[in-house]
Amino acid sequence: MYWEDPPQDREAAVRTLAMPKDTNGLGDIFGGWIMSHADVAGAILAYRRAAGRVVTVAVNDVKFLRPVFVGDVVSFYCDIDKVGNTSITVHVTVFSERNDGGVARHVRTATASITYVHIDLDGRPRPVPGTGKDAQPSKDPDGRPTGKQKG
Ligand SMILES: CC(C)(COP(=O)(O)OP(=O)(O)OC[C@H]1O[C@@H](n2cnc3c(N)ncnc32)[C@H](O)[C@@H]1OP(=O)(O)O)[C@@H](O)C(=O)NCCC(=O)NCCS
Repeated sequence: MYWEDPPQDREAAVRTLAMPKDTNGLGDIFGGWIMSHADVAGAILAYRRAAGRVVTVAVNDVKFLRPVFVGDVVSFYCDIDKVGNTSITVHVTVFSERNDGGVARHVRTATASITYVHIDLDGRPRPVPGTGKDAQPSKDPDGRPTGKQKG
C-alpha cells in the first residue's frame, strides 16, 4: 500500500460522488461500484502508458479497508507497479473525503492491483512501447514509484 494520505502532487485519475443508488443492503457503498471505478481509473493510466488500446486481464489483491458512505467524494489514485512485455499492472488506491462538522477528512477506503494488456485492433496482445531496460519504474526508498508513471 503506497499512500496513507492522498498524494498532493497530482489530481486523482477518477473522482466522483457516492450516491444512494450505489448502496448495498447495509446502506454503504457497494464494493462492485468501487471496483468499477478503480478499473476505469487504472485503465486511463495504462492506456496512456501503452499509447493505445488496453483491456483488463486480471484484478488482484482487492482490499476494502473501510466502508464508503453516501455523500463521500471518492478519489482513485493510480501508480504503475510493473510493465511487462504486453501487460501493465497498476496499483489503485481509493480515498473517501468526508466532512465531519466542517472539517474534511480523507480516509483510505480500498486498494487493488489491476493488470491490463495492450492489444492491437484484432484484440491480440502487442508489446507495450518502451519495454525493456526502462520497463520498471524507479522507486523511492519507501518503494513508491517515482517519475512520470502515475495518475
Ligand atoms: C487479455 C487478452 C487479450 C490476453 O490474451 P492472451 O492470448 O491470453 O495473452 P497472453 O497469455 O499472451 O498474456 C498477455 C499478458 O497478460 C498477462 N496475463 C495473462 N493472464 C494474467 C493474469 N491472470 N494475471 C496477470 N497477468 C496476466 C501475461 O503474463 C502477459 O503479460 P506479458 O506479455 O507482460 O508477459 C485476452 O485474454 C482477452 O481478450 N481477454 C478478455 C479481456 C476483457 O474482455 N476484459 C474485460 C473488459 S476490458
